Amino acid sequence: MAVVPAGRSRLKTRVTELLGIQYPIIQGGMQWVGRAELVAAVSNAGGLGVLTALTQPTPEALREEIARCRTMTNKPFGVNLTLLPSINPPPYEKYLDVILESGIKILETAGNNPKEFIAKAKAQGVKIIHKCVAVRHALSAERNGVDVVSIDGFECAGHPGEDDIGGLVLIPAAVAKLKIPVVASGGIANGRGMAAALALGAEGVNMGTRFCATQEAPIHPNIKQALVDAGERDTRLMFRKLHNTARVLKNAVSDEVVKIENRPEGAAFEDIRHLVAGGRGRTALEGGDVNGGVITAGQTVGLIHDIPTCKELIDRMVSECRADLEAAVRKMA
Ligand SMILES: Cc1cc2nc3c(=O)[nH]c(=O)nc-3n(C[C@H](O)[C@H](O)[C@H](O)COP(=O)(O)O)c2cc1C
Repeated sequence: MAVVPAGRSRLKTRVTELLGIQYPIIQGGMQWVGRAELVAAVSNAGGLGVLTALTQPTPEALREEIARCRTMTNKPFGVNLTLLPSINPPPYEKYLDVILESGIKILETAGNNPKEFIAKAKAQGVKIIHKCVAVRHALSAERNGVDVVSIDGFECAGHPGEDDIGGLVLIPAAVAKLKIPVVASGGIANGRGMAAALALGAEGVNMGTRFCATQEAPIHPNIKQALVDAGERDTRLMFRKLHNTARVLKNAVSDEVVKIENRPEGAAFEDIRHLVAGGRGRTALEGGDVNGGVITAGQTVGLIHDIPTCKELIDRMVSECRADLEAAVRKMA
């Protein structure tokens, strides 16, 4: 008997049922990348696209972006709200109000565990995916009432936390402790990774870097090509000593940041601020200068070899995932 019936137009888990999507493949929130073009393409292909709230300069601009996305898809999509400590915090509450007023039914939270935001969104029937990097944080989010936990292994782009636990351990550790469904995030870029995540007990996958190298990602072709050209060793960890680790693409800027951070006399944030400013990263992503700023990317760069459409990518992942699960069972026969 087939492990996963071939040719089925769905791949059903608790995550697909909760979110009303065809395949348990989520495009995680991505600063400067999570715009309507990409989000609609992922949702139209049967996954879940997620707009990034803070990519929009104001809550009102987010309202317009949500409306724009609705003109491109009638499938479910979500919005990511990343709550990070910051010198000048954005008006998080106002962004949340716009998300709720716009009738968004899926919220991806990340960063601080936003207990009061969760309660407010839940009261309006919103499904919440909380993204975190540690089992203890996942348990606390579950206690606070989130519907799904997306857990990011050390391989991931962005902030993997400070515990350095890879997905192979983190995912089953989370699955063993949580009652709500777990989505595996970090290090997944193809059907084989998805098959592994499902075998580890996850009920879906979340990807960032892989979706940056798609036709619809609203970033410069040079950056997409740099992701294709990079190998699995071509990421760097910045901000280790500031206990705010970030995994980014290895380039002239991240090399310089790490060099300054590792000076024997140490370094303060002020010493690297000019290199890591968000605006500089945005300019690099949009302008195509691969060495122009910090480019967030994960170890999956070593698994990315082309720049497909989101539909090609998702269809391919689903069929590869099925074939890889079948092949694994056959090996044991
Ligand atoms: C360019 C880029 C920007 C990102 N920005 C955010 C963000 O603003 N908020 C967030 O929660 N995660 C962010 N992430 C992390 C992704 O949502 C996702 O958790 C991560 O990329 C998963 O690891 P992967 O890249 O190995 O798939 C970003 C990732 C990338 C590649």
